[in-house]
Amino acid sequence: MQSRALPSSTAGPPLSVARPQDLPNAGSTSPAVELVAVRKAFGDRVVLADVSMRVARGERVALLGESGSGKSTLLNLIAGLEPVDAGSVRVAGTPVSSLDPDAAAMFRRAAIGFVFQAFHLLPHLDAAHNVAVPLMLNGVPARVALERGAAMLARVGLGARANAWPRELSGGQEQRVGIARAIVTDPTLLLCDEPTGDLDRKSGDEILDLLQALNREYGKTIIMVTHDPHAAERSHRTIHLDKGLLREDAT
Ligand SMILES: Nc1ncnc2c1ncn2[C@@H]1O[C@H](COP(=O)(O)OP(=O)(O)OP(=O)(O)O)[C@@H](O)[C@H]1O
Ligand SMILES: [Mg+2]
Repeated sequence: MQSRALPSSTAGPPLSVARPQDLPNAGSTSPAVELVAVRKAFGDRVVLADVSMRVARGERVALLGESGSGKSTLLNLIAGLEPVDAGSVRVAGTPVSSLDPDAAAMFRRAAIGFVFQAFHLLPHLDAAHNVAVPLMLNGVPARVALERGAAMLARVGLGARANAWPRELSGGQEQRVGIARAIVTDPTLLLCDEPTGDLDRKSGDEILDLLQALNREYGKTIIMVTHDPHAAERSHRTIHLDKGLLREDAT
């Protein structure tokens, strides 16, 4: 699927964000995510025994599994937040699992957006500043970052709440801010860890609608951990993590 850039607010200076192609071995034809024979243990506890998976660009994949089965660990390995014990992880062709921590952080900030169950907004920043933070961390001037942040808030339906504090927002609105923050750097990959887990059914459905729209309109690849069969049904594919191995359903 061809992806296109998210709308940016103004004609201002280009965003000086490191793009994946600046890093080794990136290519536009490689899969969004490719794991080969990945093993991960914490002490004696083998969480991922032998995991291989491939996610094409533009796919929406649901990742299911019991509590403690290693779903969040798998996302952390894809994001280069944790080292693998064996095997390899590539994201859009970049060998995440062999980057040093600084290069992994740079790659992550450019290429991956995270959406969390508990939103993790900064309580002392308003919505616009929360969304702008990843750009500022990438060295984008504050004014430009805030303009783009406002554009992302408008995209998620919160254009009128740019100056609201997180405590003034509903859970569904907080998660919209979380999604705006995840997409503000225009990453190719969104990793969502139970994004509707803290929401009621209606707000959760609205978040799923939004993620689906971002996938369809901009070709964002989405890997979503969920316990909700309804959320899984709306994905292209469902993958189950069980006893350290992956099992796949056609949906
Ligand atoms: N940093 C860590 N150090 C030690 N053990 C860890 C660490 N991170 C995760 N684990 C262990 O690895 C296993 C998998 O954890 P993980 O958080 O990936 O599970 P999960 O599938 O996301 O569960 P949940 O659905 O409850 O979020 C658990 O037994 C957990 O205690
Ligand atoms: Mg988890």
